[in-house]
This record gives sequence, structure tokens and C-alpha cells, in this order.
Amino acid sequence: MKALAVLLLGWAVLALPGWAQTPAQPVDVLHWLTSASERRAANQLSSILAANGVQWRDAAIPGGGGMAAVKVLKSRVLMGDSPDVAQLIGTTLTEWADVGLVLPLNAVASRQRWAQTLFPTVMDLVSYNGMVIAAPLGIHRINTLLYNRRLFARIGLPPPSSWAEFEVAVHKLAAQGIQPLAWSDEPWQIATVFEAVLLSDAGPALYRELIVQRKSSAWLDPRVERALTRLRWLRSINGEPPREQAWTDAARELLAGKAAMLVMGDWAKGELIAWGASPSKDFGCVVLPGTENTHLYSIDTLAMLANGHHRDATQEKVAELVFNASTQLAYNRIKGSVPVQRDIDVASLDSCARDSWASFADPRTARVPSLAHRMAADESIKDAVAQTLWRYLTDPRMEPAEAQRRLAAVIRAPSNAP
Ligand code: BGC
Repeated sequence: MKALAVLLLGWAVLALPGWAQTPAQPVDVLHWLTSASERRAANQLSSILAANGVQWRDAAIPGGGGMAAVKVLKSRVLMGDSPDVAQLIGTTLTEWADVGLVLPLNAVASRQRWAQTLFPTVMDLVSYNGMVIAAPLGIHRINTLLYNRRLFARIGLPPPSSWAEFEVAVHKLAAQGIQPLAWSDEPWQIATVFEAVLLSDAGPALYRELIVQRKSSAWLDPRVERALTRLRWLRSINGEPPREQAWTDAARELLAGKAAMLVMGDWAKGELIAWGASPSKDFGCVVLPGTENTHLYSIDTLAMLANGHHRDATQEKVAELVFNASTQLAYNRIKGSVPVQRDIDVASLDSCARDSWASFADPRTARVPSLAHRMAADESIKDAVAQTLWRYLTDPRMEPAEAQRRLAAVIRAPSNAP
């Protein structure tokens, strides 16, 4: 990785164009906000920027979880065509900052008192070696269970608050010919469901050992076996062969009443709302059973890239506008995530968002980072875990114990681990 980073930096420096841009030049923004709600949220940002004299030139790369966007970004930097702003999140962010590709935002951050107003978890995430390296957009909650209110009313049950209740609901739904759970075999979606189930079965302390400290031996714990067994069961309960589909198609199944539940980050809630559904009438959201008092987060951020275009003042302006409370509320209301500040009034947001924000703010909550969404480990570990889970699920002969051994083998402890 280090070698690649050095290579990237080498090429990027060689490719720096030598001319200065005029302030009116638009900022080129590379991101993966391409579903209906994501698009609207991006448009909201671009119109706030436009109202403040900053033109947004869109470079949207479709693909859930940013799988394609991250690759395109790397190749654009290698070609000397680096955008000015990029949706870089989690550990990807620190890797890019490490090789000097990210513009430090310390001046904006101190002017707007980020250290005093951001949630400490968010401030930590955007801080690296004394630099502030990104503007935080919003906090997503991954341990979210969305359910179709009409289908649950039909079977006369509340949404499940334990796995026992979940099983009862599954049997009742299946007995009525309703698919209990919307599912996709895309590796990143499998990994997203798995980490929420892992948090449920392992609890936050073991989850941290597995995902944050990345202790190989911890992956052999019987609670991981339980999570793997549950994952296989969740995939099997629809009775029909699972397939790969976009997360938006899975959300569509939920809204259309084809499936009754969906385990997905709360961007899926944003999507349902963008399609006109109401969280009080059409669907509801609760936390996945066993994950009460925990918040499995993915925090979206925009990095300003140091690409030699001499647009620092405009890039700083972008960061400043992103941080503004009014932008945070307007953007997150659409996106499905919640504002990053601890002193903001979220009363105008929907009930799922209010719960998520209150849980994130509560000192008793265990806040744990998402692996599937790059908050905990680099791209290669994340991909190796997702591929291993995909293999485990698609090969019925692979026992959970074998999957545990393979997961233990692909997990590497962080280089600064004791
Ligand atoms: C991002 C979300 C996005 C989701 C689906 C996640 O990695 O954090 O903002 O909506 O992927 O593409």
C-alpha cells in the first residue's frame, strides 16, 4: 500500500499543472452520490455552494459503497487529472493525507470551532497528524433494520426487538407468502449486513477486537461462528435463490411490499423518502436486534485535494459551507444521515434520524466503526473480508469454522498496534 501511495504521489507531483486558476473556475467534485436521494442531496449541496459563488462541476461515479468511485479517483490522480473535491471516507482519507494529496483545513476548522462543536468521534476521524483533512457531511447508522409497516400490520406484529421475535416474524411472513427480508449478494452489501449481525452477536467489546484492533485470534471466537451461522440463515429465509442486486433495488422490494424487512445503512431510509414514502406511514426503522445502545457508524466526508490547481480559497469555502448548520440540516434530511455537530437542533428531522443522532450523542452508547464502509481498515482488508464472506455464503460446503479461519487469515492488525 505504502509503495502504491508513494507511486501515486510521485505521479501526482509530476502531473501538477503550473498555471493558476481564476476564482470563478468551478470545483470538480468526484463522488458516488448517484441514487435518487443521494443525487438530491448532492444537488442540495451544489445549490448552496452556487448561492455562495462556488460552481460545482459534477463527477459522479455510480456504484453502491463507492466501489467504482475510489478506483476512478485513483486513476484520475495517476493521469494528472485530480478533482478538487472528492468523497473520500474513513481510512482512505488518512492514506491520501499521508502522501500529501489532501489540503489541510486547519484554518477553516479553527475559525468555525470544529474541535468544540463536532462530535469527538467525527473530529478524530477528520484529524491526522495535527491536520484537519476533510469536511464532514453526515453520520450514517449501519445497524438499521427497516420494515414495511403495512406488512407488519398485516401479520399483527410489532417490529422485532430480539432475534426470537425476528424468527416469529419471519415464520408469519413466510406463511403468508411474503418474502421476509430483502437481500442482495453484492459482496459490499453482504459485508454491511454481516458487520451489523457481528455487532449483535459479539457485542461492542469483541467487535472492537475483531474490527478495530483486528486481532486474528479473536476471529476464532464462538460468537463469530454464531454471527456467521445467523448470516447464512438470514440469506436463506426467503426460500428463493439469492441474487446480486443494487441496494436501491432491495429498498424498492421493501417499499413495494415484496419484502418485509431490510438490513441496510440509513441511506436506504433517505432513498425511501426520496421516492415519496413516509417513515410514519409506509415504513419504520429500528435497530437490528441485539444492537441496542450501540451505533455502528459510517461518516461521509469530502476531502479537498491538493492538486496544484490553486483553488485553495474556493476549496476552503466548500469546507466552510459544508460545516454550516443550515447545510448540515438540509443535506442530511435528504441523505438519510444525521448532522455531525453536537450542538445542533435536530427536531425538524424524521424520527429515525432523531433516534440515530440522539444515540450517537449519548455518552452511554458504544459507537463502533464500520469495516464495510472504510471506517476501520483499508480498502484491501475490507475487500478481502467481503470476498471471504461472499465465498462462505455462496459455497454451502464451507463450514463457519473454515470461514473463521479464512477471516482470521485476511485480517491484519493495524501497523501501530502494540
Ligand atoms: C456511503 C453512503 C452511501 C452508501 C451507498 C456508503 O459507503 O457512506 O453515503 O449512500 O455507501 O452507496
